[in-house]
Amino acid sequence: MTEIASTRADLAKLLDPARRDGAAIGFVPTMGALHDGHASLMRVARAHVADGPVVVSIFVNPLQFGAGEDLDRYPRTLEADLDVCEREGVDFVFAPSVDEVYPGGDPQVTVAPGPLADVLEGATRPGHFAGMLTVVAKLFGLVKPDVAVFGEKDYQQFALIRRMSADLCLGVDVVGAPTQREPDGLALSSRNRFLSPEQRAEAPTLSRALHAAQLAATSGVEAALEAAHVELRQAYGIDLDYLVITDPALAPLPEAPAPGTEARILVAAKLGNTRLIDNMSLTIGAPR
Ligand code: PAF
Repeated sequence: MTEIASTRADLAKLLDPARRDGAAIGFVPTMGALHDGHASLMRVARAHVADGPVVVSIFVNPLQFGAGEDLDRYPRTLEADLDVCEREGVDFVFAPSVDEVYPGGDPQVTVAPGPLADVLEGATRPGHFAGMLTVVAKLFGLVKPDVAVFGEKDYQQFALIRRMSADLCLGVDVVGAPTQREPDGLALSSRNRFLSPEQRAEAPTLSRALHAAQLAATSGVEAALEAAHVELRQAYGIDLDYLVITDPALAPLPEAPAPGTEARILVAAKLGNTRLIDNMSLTIGAPR
């Protein structure tokens, strides 16, 4: 039976026995609107901690939304979310209010994410990653997990959190879980529900483009990008923001990567008002 805490004090009480026993604590931070992608993160957390508690936080963090972004529009579906947690055998849900997380209003001290936050998603969402890392650092402080699991769909977020845990010696093992997809390849996302039927039909173009790039990567980076662009050009109503290939830590690739170089291709595009992102691994210059 999943137990729910909405205050820091209640969370601490729930976690106390596990801490006393030295049990490993697994953590899945979320903003709710849980779908099968989140459920897969809970399963990865469970696999890491065995009998130790798995904690899921559900908190729509205002600090990571910019002016004009979809904070009010962000789906809030607590009852359905609790059902997902129950089904997945989650031990504790932490679902605090904004005041509980930020009792004095916006925090004075926040996490500075560094240059990785200025590119890709960060280029169009100033302040987003600082707000995201700040709440993750606070949640790490409250839950004190041994392992925390994040979806690779938000690859830049995952890379930054892993970097934060390492650079600030937070002692949390940050684990990435593979992107979950609809049968037609569309990456699962809380935002998919905002797509009209026409946009939903076009949305799998993003994953098709990334697959095409994976295949063409045997001929190099330019060929991979061109193969993805060919797919994207065929779609209607896709407003491309970026399509890039980087190294797995999101740093630029060398000018002439050696055959077999591991890389990441990332795409972001708007369909109407809904912004979708996706990414996949690829290997440059070697058959997959
Ligand atoms: O990916 C999310 O749902 C959020 O960015 C996170 C990591 C829970 C922080 O608010």
